[in-house]
Amino acid sequence: MERASTYNDRVVRQFTIMTVVWGVVGMLVGVIIAAQLMWPALNFDVPWLSYGRLRPLHTNAVIFAFGGSALFATSYYVVQRTCHVRLFSDGLAAFTFWGWQVVIVLAAITLPLGLTQGKEYAELIWPIDLLIAAVWVAYAVVFFGTVALRKVKHIYVANWFYGAFILTIAVLHIVNSLALPTGLLHSYPAYSGVVDAMVQWWYGHNAVGFFLTAGFLGMMYYFVPKQAGRPVYSYRLSVVHFWALISIYMWAGPHHLHYTTLPDWAQSLGMVFSLMLLAPSWGGMINGIMTLSGAWHKLRTDPILKFLIVSLSFYGMSTFEGPMMSIKTVNALSHYTDWTIGHVHSGALGWVAMISIGCVYALLPKVFNRESMYSIKLIDVHFWISTIGVVLYIAAMWMAGVMQGLMWRAVNDDGTLTYTFIESLNATYPFYGVRLLGGTLFLVGMLVMVYNVWMTIRGSEPAERTVIQPA
Ligand code: HEM
Ligand code: HEM
Repeated sequence: MERASTYNDRVVRQFTIMTVVWGVVGMLVGVIIAAQLMWPALNFDVPWLSYGRLRPLHTNAVIFAFGGSALFATSYYVVQRTCHVRLFSDGLAAFTFWGWQVVIVLAAITLPLGLTQGKEYAELIWPIDLLIAAVWVAYAVVFFGTVALRKVKHIYVANWFYGAFILTIAVLHIVNSLALPTGLLHSYPAYSGVVDAMVQWWYGHNAVGFFLTAGFLGMMYYFVPKQAGRPVYSYRLSVVHFWALISIYMWAGPHHLHYTTLPDWAQSLGMVFSLMLLAPSWGGMINGIMTLSGAWHKLRTDPILKFLIVSLSFYGMSTFEGPMMSIKTVNALSHYTDWTIGHVHSGALGWVAMISIGCVYALLPKVFNRESMYSIKLIDVHFWISTIGVVLYIAAMWMAGVMQGLMWRAVNDDGTLTYTFIESLNATYPFYGVRLLGGTLFLVGMLVMVYNVWMTIRGSEPAERTVIQPA
């Protein structure tokens, strides 16, 4: 009876703590590879410290370990509170936690060993892919099972976004990972040539759209109104936002394959859908930011709200930049340059990391039965360090990227190239230095968070005290 009348916050606590842990680990590897780009000797001639192996370790750690844990934690927290019911199955929820941690540890072992399928964001070898599929199916059962058991008729919009994220990632992962194993550690992809490339970037772009966007929009629709103490600005807009976003994202993948052997019409289709994507993205961003109408003054005193609102501003920026970069003539300049890296991190650090950090600060005292975080002042310090860090990172990469693009295309009157590649690399070093500084600042902010979290949760074991609201 006691069990049935409380939420399952144990699994939320576990995923929340691991969000912080994996955030530090993933960003530390990011700082290391940023330093290696400046000083290549930092790989110490050890193969498993080489850039090519640590880079996928970074992307997997920040996207799937850090971002993934934040998504699990918040979706389990939100679905219970908006459906007024405990999670569908405690056992399956525990399986998703431990299964996901095993996936991450296996990734941290295999990637430095050089074991990879070589597909970006889908590098892990096939046995790990199978485990991911099993964990994901369990996740879907827990999430949709909880929605089915709900005590309120309405399904709150945050759950629509989380639901779309869970379903789509299942489809993307299974289709893109289809492969023929030749042994325990190796396999051949089911597709070949340009079809393989298209499937990979259909996966890759929708990983951005659903892993790095839809799930985080679920967070936005729950935590921004909660923290602001205001209802969502427009519920109708949130419904339009949902359907428009999920139906347009699916078709934009070919913008990653401009000027390749992919048929030209498919490239143009990707470009047009990317341009259309601006509308729902900005509709959602405006809906989140305008939720603060009448509560703007809270931004002065509430650093958690600052994290949430600034993350939405970065979301707006990166979803304006993305459609611009998908225009073929713009992509001709930006592709292969650090502009892409700037775009990635304005989305990844500015949007994904900052909204996750804000949500962790918001829910952590609740699931550990504390009044509030140990220090609000330190949240503010974290906010400013990380904001300065992101701005330095992305401004450096934008400048470096445009400069590289212009240097590579500059030609002399006689048609020869004005600059050698090495000259463009030399010109990039100062920007790599600024990026390293920005990234290090962001990491320092995470360490401030670790201290604040530790001081908040140390002491007595939290009891399951959060009682389910009557429907
Ligand atoms: C301290 C923070 C971080 C630092 C210093 C950092 C650094 C880096 C570096 C140096 C690269 C390789 C760039 C290149 O190959 O030229 C990279 C790539 C990448 N990072 Fe980060 N990163 C950080 C945080 C994050 C976070 C939080 C995310 C995601 C949530 C993220 C997602 C990515 C992705 C997706 C790529 C691959 C980009 C591409 O292939 O175009 N990073 N990062
Ligand atoms: C309307 C939304 C968006 C559009 C249309 C868009 C478009 C693009 C384009 C055109 C590229 C460059 C492709 C290339 O030249 O190789 C790109 C790269 C990328 N974008 Fe976006 N973007 C959007 C939003 C976002 C957001 C919000 C994030 C992160 C949270 C993000 C993450 C990435 C990543 C990780 C890459 C690098 C992929 C790779 O090459 O490894 N994008 N995007």
